[in-house]
Amino acid sequence: MRIDILTLFPGMFRGPFDESIIKRAVDAGLVSINLHNIRDWAEGKHQVADDYVYGGGPGMVMKPEPVFAAMEAVLEMAPERGPVVLMTPAGRKFGHGLTVELAAAERLIVLSGHYEGFDARVHEHLATHEVSIGDYVLSGGELPAMVLVDAVVRQIPGALGSPDSVEEESFSAGLLEAPHYTRPPEFRGWQVPDVLLSGHHAEVDKWRRRQNLLLTARRRPDLLEGLPLSNEEKEWLSEQMEQGF
Ligand code: ADE
Repeated sequence: MRIDILTLFPGMFRGPFDESIIKRAVDAGLVSINLHNIRDWAEGKHQVADDYVYGGGPGMVMKPEPVFAAMEAVLEMAPERGPVVLMTPAGRKFGHGLTVELAAAERLIVLSGHYEGFDARVHEHLATHEVSIGDYVLSGGELPAMVLVDAVVRQIPGALGSPDSVEEESFSAGLLEAPHYTRPPEFRGWQVPDVLLSGHHAEVDKWRRRQNLLLTARRRPDLLEGLPLSNEEKEWLSEQMEQGF
């Protein structure tokens, strides 16, 4: 997969992308991440990329010309085509479904704005998706772009060490994932649940699944709607709920 990110602040991405899973996926040739500074396509001695808001109002807006020029040049860099995602608090809420959809693309282009964001013509004529990472306003689209790219790269086959990892993660099964334990079996008097030390895989799987159900019912009951639970699971869960969890 090829990812291109158009931004005014490519330097913000370097630390997070040079560590851990993203770096491993890049080093393994599973994905290439290409950062492009929109200012490189801004004209004039000062390469101005933003301007006042028409009609008045605070802040600055990113001018369309450098963004369109950057996009056209970046598209020329590789033949693959794919979604163009613009990060904005006014976008659709990001979630697991879109992560999987984007990870299946050969190419992903991310438009990351700053200040008051992009001129509306960038939204209308360049973006295929407008995406928000949550109901809060950040200083720019850079952190949201990093969140999106991290979530997408993890879905690329081979990006995580074990092929099971993606499947087992929260949200692939539509449930929250209960906490894990590691050694020692007792720490400051707090015990690891016996079943996890039993070596009995089927029992461990059942216990984990039930913990996931319980956590989801407590914290995010909305996620349980429409999930295919077995009758046994439904009964067990309603028993737990009757007992006040
Ligand atoms: N830009 C600023 N805030 C944002 C958010 N919450 N999601 C996506 N892009 C943003």
